[in-house]
Amino acid sequence: MKTVFILNGPNLNALGKREPGIYGGKTLAGVEEECKTAAAELGLAVDFRQSNHEGALVDWIQEAGDKAAGVVLNAGAYTHTSIAIHDAIRAIQPVPVVEVHLSNIHAREAFRHVSMVAPVAVGMICGFGPLGYILALRALAARL
Ligand code: DQA
Repeated sequence: MKTVFILNGPNLNALGKREPGIYGGKTLAGVEEECKTAAAELGLAVDFRQSNHEGALVDWIQEAGDKAAGVVLNAGAYTHTSIAIHDAIRAIQPVPVVEVHLSNIHAREAFRHVSMVAPVAVGMICGFGPLGYILALRALAARL
C-alpha cells in the first residue's frame, strides 16, 4: 500500500482551541482520524505528523522523498517564510506535494498571500477547513 505523509507545521497542535473563528473547533487528532478514514477508502496509508520546528519539517520532507508516494503539507506560518521548506520540496521531486491551509490565506493579511510552498507544490487547497486535507488526499490518489 502506498503511504502519504501528512505534515503539519507550527501551532497546528493547538487546533480546536486556537482562534476557532478562523480554524474551527476540530482538534488535530480529529483531523488525523478523518484523514485515516478517507485514506483507507482510497487505498492509501497515512503517516500523520506535526512539529513546531522548521528543521523537523525539512527532515520529514526529506524522509518522504525516500518513503512516501506523496505529501500533504500544511506548513503553517513557515509557508510564508521558509526557503528551507521550499528547497526540501524541490529536492524530493518528483514526489508530489499538495499544499493545504484550513483558512483562505488569500482573504487574510497580506503577509499570508505569499507562499514559498506554492511554486513547488503540484497544487494548493485553502479555505475549506479540515475538508482540505481530504480533498488533498483525493487529489494525490487520483495522481498516483
Ligand atoms: C494556516 C495559515 C497560515 O497563514 C497560518 O500561519 C497557520 C495556519 C492554515 O491552515 O490556515 O498557522 O496554514
